[in-house]
Amino acid sequence: MKKRVAILISGNGSNMVELVQSMGSAHPGIAALVLSNNPDALGLSRAEKLGVPIASLDHRPFDEDRAAYDVALHEFLSGHDIDFICLAGFMRILTGKFVSLWEQKIINVHPSLLPKYKGLKTHQRAIDAGDREAGCSVHLVASELDSGPLLGQARVKIFENDTASLLGQRVLIQEHRLYPLVLKRFLSGERNLLFLAD
Ligand code: GAR
Repeated sequence: MKKRVAILISGNGSNMVELVQSMGSAHPGIAALVLSNNPDALGLSRAEKLGVPIASLDHRPFDEDRAAYDVALHEFLSGHDIDFICLAGFMRILTGKFVSLWEQKIINVHPSLLPKYKGLKTHQRAIDAGDREAGCSVHLVASELDSGPLLGQARVKIFENDTASLLGQRVLIQEHRLYPLVLKRFLSGERNLLFLAD
């Protein structure tokens, strides 16, 4: 039986599009839901055009009550018989309670070679540090921000005079390669790390 996958987004949803398009008939997962905490996220209309059910769960009425938001999120996903969650630019920190309820069932893509550069402005930080390469990581989600066992990484060279914007565009192309491959492997039971080079 195929796993019902929910993809959680906050913005453009370009990774979400790649994940949805990768889930064809021979795939162990089916794109069952795209959910955003931001009702205006561009990704929601992109998902709708792809024929995937969409939902928004606005975080603003919850004020700063992360626990209450995550209870609502858990209930919503459970109510839609979701088996597996892909975070794809979902810019919220999940509570430890939520993560433990979905242990081994949430993965995330992050635009750095973790464990380097958790959080934001990853490309600028890599350039400022004089790094020769950057990249992206897909990992199982643990309760600390941008952490948890690695499942795959793709590396991208940093050029002299590179900018965060240019580097970010090249890393995003690699995210689009890496994330669908890792999702398929993980749902198929493969746990070996996947490394890609540009
Ligand atoms: C991606 O670069 C993703 O790695 C990043 O947000 C972007 C979303 O783009 N996620 C994080 O920084 C999570 N810590 P998208 O909406 O076009 O997929």
